[in-house]
Amino acid sequence: MSIQKFPEHFVWGAATSAYQIEGAWQEDGKGESIWDRYSHRPFMIQNGDTGDVACDHYHHMPEDVALMRTLGLQSYRFSISWPRLLPEGHGAVNSKGLDFYERLVDELLAAGITPMATLNHWDLPQALQETGGWANRQTVDWFCEYARLAFERLGDRVGYWVTHNEPWVIAYLGYKEAGMAPGLADLTLANRAAHHLLLSHGRAVQLFRQGGYKGQIGIVLNTSHFMPASDNEKDRAACQRAYDQMLGLYLDPLYKGAYPQALLDWLGPHCPPVQAGDMALISQPTDFLGVNYYSSNLVAHDHNGGFWRNVLSQVSAPGWGRTAMNWGIYPAGLTAMLLDIKENYGNPPMFITENGTAMEDTPDAAGFVADWGRVSYLRAHLMAVHQAIQAGANLKGYYVWSLLDNFEWSQGYKPGFGIVHVDFVSGNRIPKQSAAWYREVIEKNGVEE
Ligand code: GCO
Repeated sequence: MSIQKFPEHFVWGAATSAYQIEGAWQEDGKGESIWDRYSHRPFMIQNGDTGDVACDHYHHMPEDVALMRTLGLQSYRFSISWPRLLPEGHGAVNSKGLDFYERLVDELLAAGITPMATLNHWDLPQALQETGGWANRQTVDWFCEYARLAFERLGDRVGYWVTHNEPWVIAYLGYKEAGMAPGLADLTLANRAAHHLLLSHGRAVQLFRQGGYKGQIGIVLNTSHFMPASDNEKDRAACQRAYDQMLGLYLDPLYKGAYPQALLDWLGPHCPPVQAGDMALISQPTDFLGVNYYSSNLVAHDHNGGFWRNVLSQVSAPGWGRTAMNWGIYPAGLTAMLLDIKENYGNPPMFITENGTAMEDTPDAAGFVADWGRVSYLRAHLMAVHQAIQAGANLKGYYVWSLLDNFEWSQGYKPGFGIVHVDFVSGNRIPKQSAAWYREVIEKNGVEE
């Protein structure tokens, strides 16, 4: 067996997000978030699940950090719940909420684990949704108030900051496809939301630089590799539209200071509402780009394919089957996408901030999960990252999604993404086979083929 070594100082971690693991949705002064509101509405989430308790990480935090240490994690990506810090979104500060993250960061540092903190992993304070949420330009100011508070209290200890997680999901799935909170269906609002998310990112980066905080700052995008279903010109154009809608809409303003012109032409009256000075703010330099990757898509032109006139289908590479959420599995797409960013956006320092798979894990009598399928998935994707590095992509680290089985948004608790199994009745955590495997990868800083 040969071992594929990763670069020296490559960072190995695991990721979670606040709403998906914390629970304690009403505790210690926390305000309501849009995900509390959405999951409490009937029929929005599979099985009527909610994040009210989730992994109860709010009460298990020291135990969870101890677990991370036994797994050998070098970094932990978590998110801060905005309504835990500012229950109304701005104004009065909830010091008990802040204390929780102070303790988390201190525990991590004591365990030798570098914190990567995401400011917005979707759980906007409900109070701000009442005034339009991300479709309202004023939310940008409120986000800055929140970001400043987090920087001031935690900025001396957090190694990596992420402004937003997956603005495409927030804007398009939340405001256009109604599949995520706040559950709206309006293309104009979606593009307003996308623009305000980007603008608030830029403003927060500016604040961060002005404050002279230590550590690095970036943004996390969800990605996919898009392939035209055929060589025909219509399919190729449809593929470019899919790319621009998911990636160009974010990468171009961030790295080139302008939205893709073809996308603006297609959007017509639904264009993002750009004001003077916005693009300069959005495109100011960051320290890294976070890349979440799960699947790749074949794209065909389809006259009945809605506004975008296309149809996307997730592909699996030969022999791979599909995940428990019926997602395609296509490791080579990860290499291709990373190299595309390298070529077209100036090869920024990148972290894989999420990658992993949902499986129908069945614990044995002792609660152990022999998830060899997940091991194969992770190994193949790490090899894909390795190939991209060999070809010159500027990769700095990798975070598996997820540390724990958790609340998978509208899918509830059925799909498990964790390398650690969580018994949602007893609260017990049991590392799976994949956790033992990952620990070895970290130890060796390499993957055995
Ligand atoms: C994501 C999300 C995660 C999901 C994961 C699996 O950023 O999409 O950060 O919250 O749970 O992607 O769907």
